[in-house]
Amino acid sequence: MNNTSNGLLTTIIIFGASGDLTQRKLIPSLFNLFRKRRTPKQLKIIGFGATEFSDDAFREHLLSGLKKFAGYEFTNEEWNLFAPNLCYISGKYAELEHFKKLSEQLKKFENNEEANRLYYMALPPSIFPTIIDNLDKSNLLHENGAWRRVVLEKPFGTDLESAITLNKQVHKALNEKQIYRIDHYLGKETVQNILFTRFANTIYEPIWNRNYIDHVQITVAEKVGLEHRAGFYDGVGVLRDMFQNHLLQLLTLVAMEPPASFSASALRNEKVKVLSAIKPMTPEQVSTNTVRAQYKGYSQEKDVSAESTTPTYAALRLFINNWRWQGIPFYLRSGKNLAEKQSQIIIQFKEPPLAMFPMQTMKPNMLVLFLQPDEGVHLRFEAKAPDKVNETRSVDMEFRYDEAFGKTAIPESYERLLLDAIQGDASLFTRADEVETAWSIIDPILQTWEAHQTPPLAVYKPSSWGPAEADVLLAKDGRRWVNEDE
Ligand code: BG6
Repeated sequence: MNNTSNGLLTTIIIFGASGDLTQRKLIPSLFNLFRKRRTPKQLKIIGFGATEFSDDAFREHLLSGLKKFAGYEFTNEEWNLFAPNLCYISGKYAELEHFKKLSEQLKKFENNEEANRLYYMALPPSIFPTIIDNLDKSNLLHENGAWRRVVLEKPFGTDLESAITLNKQVHKALNEKQIYRIDHYLGKETVQNILFTRFANTIYEPIWNRNYIDHVQITVAEKVGLEHRAGFYDGVGVLRDMFQNHLLQLLTLVAMEPPASFSASALRNEKVKVLSAIKPMTPEQVSTNTVRAQYKGYSQEKDVSAESTTPTYAALRLFINNWRWQGIPFYLRSGKNLAEKQSQIIIQFKEPPLAMFPMQTMKPNMLVLFLQPDEGVHLRFEAKAPDKVNETRSVDMEFRYDEAFGKTAIPESYERLLLDAIQGDASLFTRADEVETAWSIIDPILQTWEAHQTPPLAVYKPSSWGPAEADVLLAKDGRRWVNEDE
C-alpha cells in the first residue's frame, strides 16, 4: 500500500487552505503535476480553512494565485479540467463537529468510493495535534485498503523538548510511515543533485574526505528581509527558521556515507548518523564557534519589539566526529537582508603539498554546488597562464542547469514533494529521530544565546554579507568566506 497503484481515487485535504502557502505553492504545484499527467487518474482536492469561501470563490481565489505565482503558462482548457476537482469547507480546527462535516463532504466528493487520503497541514505546528486528534476521533485516519498520510509543514517544534512532545502527540494517532515532515529544501532539484553528484559519479568519492578536503562552507543568503512575517519570525529567528532544518539537511547530504540503496530508510539512516556525529556544543564552544547578528534597523520593523534580540543572521563552525570528517570544519551561515540571494556549498580542497612553482596566485581547488539562483556545479582549478613562465590563473569548469537542460527544467520543490507523498516515497521527508537529532545540535546554541546572551548580538548593514564577526570566525582558522561567484 505504499504507492498509487492500488488504483483508487486520491483525495488531498489541505488544512489552512485559505492561506498563502496553498495559493502560492501547493495549488500551483498540484496543478502543474495534473497538467503533466503525473497525479493519480482520479484526484480530488478539498480545502479546509477558517475563512468563508464558496467552492466557486475558492476556485477563483486559486486561479488568481496561479496567474501570479505559477511561473508557467497554462490554458483555460487545462484549468477547466482541473477546477471541478476542487472544493472548500470552512470550519474550525478545534471543533470535532466540523470534522463530521468534513467526513460527510469527503464521502460525497468521493462518491462513497474507497479513496486514499493525503492530509496536508499548511498551518503552524501548534495546531497539528488538535487536527490529528479530531481526524482520529472522526475515524478519518484508519487505513482499510486505502492509505492515509499526513504532511506536516515546518517548523517542527521550537526546540528539542517541543519536537519530542509533538512527535509523541502525532504518534498517538499515526504510525511513522504515515507521517511526511516536509523540508522544502529537499524538494529542490539542485539539493537532490548533491546526492547524484556524489553517488552517480565515481570521481568524487576517493577525495571526499578529510585527506583531501580542507573545509566546507554552506551559505544560504537571502536578499529579502521580513516580508510581513514579523509575527512569525520575531522570537523565532534564523537558527530555528533556517538552520535546524534547511542548513543541517544540506550538511547531511554533503557529509553522509553512501547509503546501500536509495530507499527512504537507508537514506535517512545515513543522515541521522551524520547528525549524531556532531557533538552538541558546550556554552564555551558556543561563545567561540557561533556568531549571531541582527541587521541594522530590524527592531524598527513593523510588528517587531523595539528590544528584540532575535537574530536574523547566524554563522556556525561545526565538526563531524567520524572517520571521514574528523577535524574538518563545516562553516554554515544564513541571514536575511544580505547582499544577494545565494545558496551554495563550497568544498574547498587542500593546497598542493609542495609549492613546485613560485606562484603567488595559487589558489586551492574548489568544487562549488550552486543551489540557487544560478543552479549548477563549478570546479575551480589552476591553469598555466599563457605566455608567462610560472604564473597560474584560476579557471572554471562549469555545468549550468539552464544550459544543459533548458530554462524550464527546474520545477518548484513542492511538486516533487507532493508527488512523493502521494506515491508513498518518504526519502525526501524528515524522520522523527532525524528531526530530534537536529534539534539536539541547535538546542545548546539557542540556550546559550538566549539565557546568557553569549556571544554578544552583532549588527550588520542591510544588503551586506553579514557582520565582521562572521569573517573573524573563519579568519581565526586562516580562512575566509567565499562570496558571490568568485
Ligand atoms: C523558509 C523560511 O523555510 O525558507 C523563510 O521560513 C525563508 O524564512 C525560506 O525565506 C527560504 O526559502 P527559499 O526556497 O526561498 O530559499
